[in-house]
Amino acid sequence: MADKPIPKDKLAASVEHSKLAAEIRRHDEAYYLNDAPEITDSDYDTLRQRLNALEVAFPDLAGEDSPSQTVGAPPKAGRFGKITHARPMLSLANAFGEEDMADFVERVQRFLNLGDNEPVELLAEPKIDGLSASIRYEKGQLVYGATRGDGQVGEDITANLRTLPDIPEALSGDFVPDVFEIRGEVYMRQDDFFALNEQQEADGKPPFANPRNAAAGSLRQLDATVTAARPLRLFAYAWGKTSELPFETQKDVLEQFKRWGFSTNPLTEAAATLDDALALFDRIGEARSSLDYDIDGVVFKVNRLDWQDRLGMVSRSPRWAIAHKFPAEQAQTILQDIDIQVGRTGTLTPVAKLQPVNVGGVMVSNATLHNEDEILRKDVRVGDTVIVQRAGDVIPQVVSVVEDDHFKSERSVAWAFPHVCPSCGSPAERKEGEAARRCTSGLVCPAQRVERLRHFVSRNAMDIEGLGEKQIAAFWESGRIESPADIFTLEARDGESLSKLSEEEGWGATSVANLYAAINTRRQIGLERVLFALGIRHIGQENAKLLARHYASVSVFLSAMRDAQDEASDARQELENIDGIGTKVAAALVDFFAAPVNQAVVHALLEELDVQDYVVETTDSEIAGKVLAFTGSLEQTTRSEAKAQAEALGAKVTGSVSKKTDILVAGPGAGSKLTKAKELGVQVIDESEWISIVSKVSR
Ligand code: IVH
Repeated sequence: MADKPIPKDKLAASVEHSKLAAEIRRHDEAYYLNDAPEITDSDYDTLRQRLNALEVAFPDLAGEDSPSQTVGAPPKAGRFGKITHARPMLSLANAFGEEDMADFVERVQRFLNLGDNEPVELLAEPKIDGLSASIRYEKGQLVYGATRGDGQVGEDITANLRTLPDIPEALSGDFVPDVFEIRGEVYMRQDDFFALNEQQEADGKPPFANPRNAAAGSLRQLDATVTAARPLRLFAYAWGKTSELPFETQKDVLEQFKRWGFSTNPLTEAAATLDDALALFDRIGEARSSLDYDIDGVVFKVNRLDWQDRLGMVSRSPRWAIAHKFPAEQAQTILQDIDIQVGRTGTLTPVAKLQPVNVGGVMVSNATLHNEDEILRKDVRVGDTVIVQRAGDVIPQVVSVVEDDHFKSERSVAWAFPHVCPSCGSPAERKEGEAARRCTSGLVCPAQRVERLRHFVSRNAMDIEGLGEKQIAAFWESGRIESPADIFTLEARDGESLSKLSEEEGWGATSVANLYAAINTRRQIGLERVLFALGIRHIGQENAKLLARHYASVSVFLSAMRDAQDEASDARQELENIDGIGTKVAAALVDFFAAPVNQAVVHALLEELDVQDYVVETTDSEIAGKVLAFTGSLEQTTRSEAKAQAEALGAKVTGSVSKKTDILVAGPGAGSKLTKAKELGVQVIDESEWISIVSKVSR
């Protein structure tokens, strides 16, 4: 096995990887759980070595669920119970330089309608490189704790979290709210990490790659006594649902965390101005190498809580916080080859195949070259010495070519971007004004179909437990799954034309039963997830949600898409008018649903699903469920804040006035929208009436 060449093709590698992973897991279980090894240690090591070699060649394969990331018998799928977060666990937008930070402060000022010179105090907290957890206290007693999961639903790791000395069983002090969810980062210190790895090695177990993996592996243990023996810590920095929050600033809340018995990060400090914030960023960056835990940037949060509240969130991140990342790590290596990957919408992306190199602690052997123009601009050629960089969790990229003394005479010829799709051989075209060259054969192209399926099952889409990228690749190879609906008929077809799945390598009766159960639980699924899962161009999570919110049910949505094919129709107007959609996205949607091949895919899928209507959170506000538009200028608030408030209260906001509009909020300078509203008899209110509607609601 050790001498077998590594497949060049990612699909082949991922199929082999998933089989190997299943085999290793089975042996881990036999050895660690049942104390009954079935193979010799050296055969086991060979399996692990092959798995590692595949992951060195294709680093994407080293996902969280790879045996390379876990030790011992890894937790089984579905082993931990699920906990729906009472408030979603958010992620953070990133800033990569001073300009991004200046933009952030300006956005906050604009949203809050502050003057350019009105300072926004920011609280700087180191960005801890661990994993986040949420711990709920009721009447001061710990009731449960969960992982972040997908931000909405996490795993119940109460027993494990209880073993952390930084997490008190009961909140100390006088102030004991009815409900308070504390959020923070679980991490492992570097010295503890090294000691743990020494112990692992002494026990003949594979070491962890870095402190973050060690923390993750230690926290997600079936047996909480294992977690208890691992030196995990927690810095508290945020909160979820709270019954009361009698504080004015982020800093005040952190002070209360300390009084309750939590640890907060000692480098936390307030910055009065942008310049102070940038200086703090530099200072924390300088301290980084002497800290005994890993940090990967500085999180800046608007300190005033009333402002945080007004700023709210966009997509899955708060508007009031940003993660300023430390600069990218770079390294030099040789470009061995250039491969073309075909994405789910047919985009051909050039990928640099590199001599593996360590970039800031992570082995990198693939990096993106972005597109045709970038290759030309950088004049990157096979055989060149190149600089690669990686920053945070973004894909490594080739930055430039290193020119040395022998450079000109020894270089290969300039690389020519292919004009046919490497997967299906169809012409690959580049539309004017677009950077990408695309395969023109749509769903006929196997690469596009596999990529779409991968997207379809991904975490933010259908999120089917036990059916990830690797299983999709394997099912595609064997012909079990060719389109989304096939996932849901897998069980009914099992054993029909192919052998029983439970007889295939890597599968057993239990794992197959678990898979089918997981698939069946996802037959009932929200409209917004289905719209996102279809992988339509321009329809990311945010737009999928806008559409679901607007049309509410799948049947209303589909008939609107049919009607909107006529560019002059009301339905088209309505679609283009959804705030945030616009003409380009509308055209992509209409085109998608007009194509017979997509209609067939959607139709077959809907036969299998029970798509749930989108339910707008009901509020007791008088504008809940109403359609609103804004016109003219607002003085006490800004358009974006007003829009965000309207949506938070359950209203829909559109960009123009139509007969569906219930209320037009008109400020001074209102023009054609106001005239139209009057013509149609739409209710018109001014800003002060608007403010009174908004302030009536108790939050
Ligand atoms: S606040 C309300 N503060 O970074 C926003 N996150 O990229 C929620 N993280 O999921 C996060 N240190 O795991 C916040 N001081 C800090 C943090 C921090 C690390 C992690 C956290 C979060 C991720 C977002």
